Amino acid sequence: MKLRLDFNNMMANLIGEKGISEEDFAILEGKIEAAEKAMVEKRANGGMDWRDLPYDQDEIVEDIVDYVESNKDWVESFVVLGIGGSALGPIAVQQAINHPHWNELSKEKRKGYPKLYVVDNVDPEKLVALFDVIDLETSLFNVISKSGGTSETMSQFMIIKEKLEKELGKDAVKKHVVATTDASKGTLRPIADEEGLKSYIIPAGVGGRFSELTPVGLLPAAMCGIDIKTLLEGAAYMDEICKIDNTFKNPAHMYGLLQYISMQQGKNISIVMAYADGLKFIADWYAQLWAESLGKKYDLDGNVVNVGQTPVKALGATDQHSQVQLYAEGPHDKVVLFMGVDKYRSEITIPKIYGDVPNLGFLGGATHNKLIHTEQMATEYALFKAEQTNMTLTVPEINEFTVGQILYLFEVATGFAGELMNINAFDQPGVEEGKNATYAMFGRPGYEEKKKELDARPEKKDKYII
Ligand code: PA5
Repeated sequence: MKLRLDFNNMMANLIGEKGISEEDFAILEGKIEAAEKAMVEKRANGGMDWRDLPYDQDEIVEDIVDYVESNKDWVESFVVLGIGGSALGPIAVQQAINHPHWNELSKEKRKGYPKLYVVDNVDPEKLVALFDVIDLETSLFNVISKSGGTSETMSQFMIIKEKLEKELGKDAVKKHVVATTDASKGTLRPIADEEGLKSYIIPAGVGGRFSELTPVGLLPAAMCGIDIKTLLEGAAYMDEICKIDNTFKNPAHMYGLLQYISMQQGKNISIVMAYADGLKFIADWYAQLWAESLGKKYDLDGNVVNVGQTPVKALGATDQHSQVQLYAEGPHDKVVLFMGVDKYRSEITIPKIYGDVPNLGFLGGATHNKLIHTEQMATEYALFKAEQTNMTLTVPEINEFTVGQILYLFEVATGFAGELMNINAFDQPGVEEGKNATYAMFGRPGYEEKKKELDARPEKKDKYII
């Protein structure tokens, strides 16, 4: 059940001069060794606590499993309130592992587990609409915020709290809300403690987008019947592979290295094209991980570098009919990662009808499994022919063990790419800027100077608004 990374089509000796040569690797030998060393040292010095998550959570897992077992019978809807790293992971894991129409299944078919909703926006239409499909009496809300200060999440929580108290009584919050936040810092922790909420901890050294394997992701997953022990075992298995100190045998380091060289070649777009609907939201999760971690203005020496790759999410075969034209014939500014599956969890055969219609007859008797595989290989060939660099990550089958591997592989790849780029992959000053500007415009105390800075912007001109 091991993932396989095939990077043949990244290499110049196969794909042509737009690819990467052995010489490109040789030139970077010293840099690669330094990055390998830094990954080991950072981990040992507590600079990458997320790397230990597969190992140090036995008690937490037990607690989550007990909590799920004692609540799942009365809970019809489990609603995550969170954004960014507090939402994308739970969505990705649910969509990958569970039935694609989970919420439409009967509770019996969901094996007694609740429906899952993730409210990761403040679009008023969406939140109001949620109240049309859930029943407060049978809903459990999981407010997830490391900082507890994120306006989107906390405003959702405030709305839910008032609604619960008004409609179900003063004590309802305690039964209907579970909090996931920092152990001691931030705004949500004291609220959770004062309200007497059941709560889980996001470890201090684990940032939002690296937190899927903490209770941020484990609780929503377990609540939907996902085997979180196996998810963590998959991550631990990949960790062993990611410990290999030779980058050429380490898929996560190799992925980071290939993308690093590609960026130097001006390929500033990273496309993840999943050939499985279940993996589509992994591409969404990856987009945040890759963008927020590697999109940086400054390097570690304080130089302005403005680096990063723009992640693009795509779905095969669907986006063959939407984006592949650009991938094939557009600029050579992108790297495509195909994510394929050896064995789909279902099989469906195309009936042998219309045998006398040549344009359809050839399909009869084949499976959709064969068709989607063939389309993936054909698209790979089309990009190869167009000298567009691409690689393929193959997942033997989508399950807890392989999804744990995928998450961990991309996290390590991100850390390694950050080392090669000499940037801090674990902060997000660009996100903070937007958060702070929102606070200033909304009149949050302490943001008066920021408000002045915003007000000092040049006025917009009417002639540019048409
Ligand atoms: O990766 C990150 O750090 C961010 O995307 C956060 O997850 C996001 O901004 C939400 O922050 P918080 O968990 O503090 O509410």
